[in-house]
Amino acid sequence: MNTTQLKGISLPASRLCIGGCPAGEYGWGDVSREEIEAAMLRALELGINVFDTADTYGLGRSEITMGEVFHAHRDRVIIATKFGVRIEHGKTFYDNSPAYIEKALAASLKRLNSDYIDLYQIHYLDHQTPIDQMMETLIRRKQQGDIRAIGLSNVGAKDAEAFLPYADEIASFQNHYSLAHRTDESEIETIASSLQISPMTWGSLGQGILTGKYDASVRFEANDRRSRSIYDNFYGKKLARNLRIVDVMRPIAVHHDVPIAAVAIRWILDKLPTSMVITGVKNPKQAEGNAIALSFELTPNELQQLDDVSK
Ligand SMILES: NC(=O)c1ccc[n+]([C@@H]2O[C@H](COP(=O)([O-])OP(=O)(O)OC[C@H]3O[C@@H](n4cnc5c(N)ncnc54)[C@H](OP(=O)(O)O)[C@@H]3O)[C@@H](O)[C@H]2O)c1
Repeated sequence: MNTTQLKGISLPASRLCIGGCPAGEYGWGDVSREEIEAAMLRALELGINVFDTADTYGLGRSEITMGEVFHAHRDRVIIATKFGVRIEHGKTFYDNSPAYIEKALAASLKRLNSDYIDLYQIHYLDHQTPIDQMMETLIRRKQQGDIRAIGLSNVGAKDAEAFLPYADEIASFQNHYSLAHRTDESEIETIASSLQISPMTWGSLGQGILTGKYDASVRFEANDRRSRSIYDNFYGKKLARNLRIVDVMRPIAVHHDVPIAAVAIRWILDKLPTSMVITGVKNPKQAEGNAIALSFELTPNELQQLDDVSK
């Protein structure tokens, strides 16, 4: 199945989603707004209707761009944004307080130029605001029609337990997951089954390393977050390991005549059968390459090879 149903959203959601971080035009190297807008529209043409952003991406730039791109297509798309990271005078705080939710929601609706947000996600837990207070605020805004569904993000299995009383109100959670990052795999499976919600994966292409276009000599400019060593997919032992994974992906991609990126995405779709896979894209060609993941199957033997090399 290439679509899934998110609790609270009647429109079937494509299992491939476009990530709006590059649309923030900050920290992803040189990007062209025109190309990013064209990529979003091309994705929509190809049947991808879930677009993920956050109020922090480019300090609102990504939401503004999505609002502009999708204004004429509003009822055909599922816009997922996030709140919970407050940036003030250059400092970052996690804030899930009811007062901040109200403020952040009003600002996101304005930037998205929309009466509602399809999926409103808690970007990070502040581990201070009582879950009841946060959820009651979100549920009230859902009842008022400003939000259609509520999602979590960057949560562990222990965090998710606190949301069990609200399981019927939560649609999804977003966590880091890919062939290059399987560390939290069992937690992701536990959360998905205990709350009966869809895992949405971010970093699904290992920030680009799983597309096969980078080698051991990869270097990024200072305006690209991947120039920092915390983006460890591109450094040291992790880079060497990722390149071994790509060596296994390459012949599989050739065999199916698909881009290597599509193999990375297809593997997640099969490994986590209720998942939705987010990938950041910078241009229509990348959107097209990633969309191919929805149109081919990996064989059991290929799935096993990928599983073994990435364990
Ligand atoms: N909840 C959270 O805390 C959280 C955290 C991170 C991300 N996210 C979401 O997840 C999205 C994606 O995750 P990510 O940002 O970590 O990156 P990712 O999807 O793993 O990698 C995206 C990058 O890979 C390259 N790429 C994409 N498709 C390609 C293709 N077909 N061929 C060649 N290169 C391709 C592009 O960069 P280059 O062309 O420059 O290589 C693109 O920017 C974000 O945009 C955001 O919406 C959420």
